[in-house]
Amino acid sequence: VSHRIITLDGPAGVGKTTLARRVAQALGIAYLDTGAMYRTLGWKLGAEAENLTDEQLRAQLAGFRFSLSGTGADSVLAVNGVPVGQEIRSETVGMLASVVAKLAPVRDAMKAAQQAMGAETSLVAEGRDMGTVVFPNATCKIFLDATPQERARRRHEQLAAMGQPADLAELTEQIRLRDEQDRNRAIAPLRPAHDAVIVDTTALDINGVFEEIMRHAGRV
Ligand code: C5P
Repeated sequence: VSHRIITLDGPAGVGKTTLARRVAQALGIAYLDTGAMYRTLGWKLGAEAENLTDEQLRAQLAGFRFSLSGTGADSVLAVNGVPVGQEIRSETVGMLASVVAKLAPVRDAMKAAQQAMGAETSLVAEGRDMGTVVFPNATCKIFLDATPQERARRRHEQLAAMGQPADLAELTEQIRLRDEQDRNRAIAPLRPAHDAVIVDTTALDINGVFEEIMRHAGRV
């Protein structure tokens, strides 16, 4: 099978990371969690990144070199040779990621890094702008959605499983704010590509969503 890129975009808590890993495993290709790249920057640069000049920010960004190795469930995203860890998984870091993800120098740098990875290897790429901006010529584009309540419930469950229990009402509000920020930003806002398959996952379990994605991705 030739080089292929499958994009998986959608709002917070829809289950993209779990599904991307599983689809990549089934297809024997790498998976790229681009949210983890923005989370790493949010965590390391903090909200102060907003106050830097573009030139200062670009200088800071030069200090982050992202790389991807392995395939399927063994795909590893590293920054400067160190695999990204669990410390970026909190909702607080998610919000910091969303703040830095609005900045043009950040988006330019991440787009270049992601496209370089996609030029080297077949990928399941998950994020917000994979189908719209980073890989407009992808083989297959999926946009996952679910109601805000269901996404908050899923994220709540996921955080608890990682030993980071959170308050459901608070989490629901945090996710609402983050989605609003991601949908309304000027550059690369969260939205489906015109040629994406939209999958409403609200009433589906993870196996159901996986099968639906494979129906589209498996035959390309
Ligand atoms: O997917 P995840 O929740 O880990 O992403 C964290 C944040 O990173 C998102 O809320 C969004 O602001 C940003 N992001 C982005 N573009 C992507 C992936 C993530 O702007 N491709």
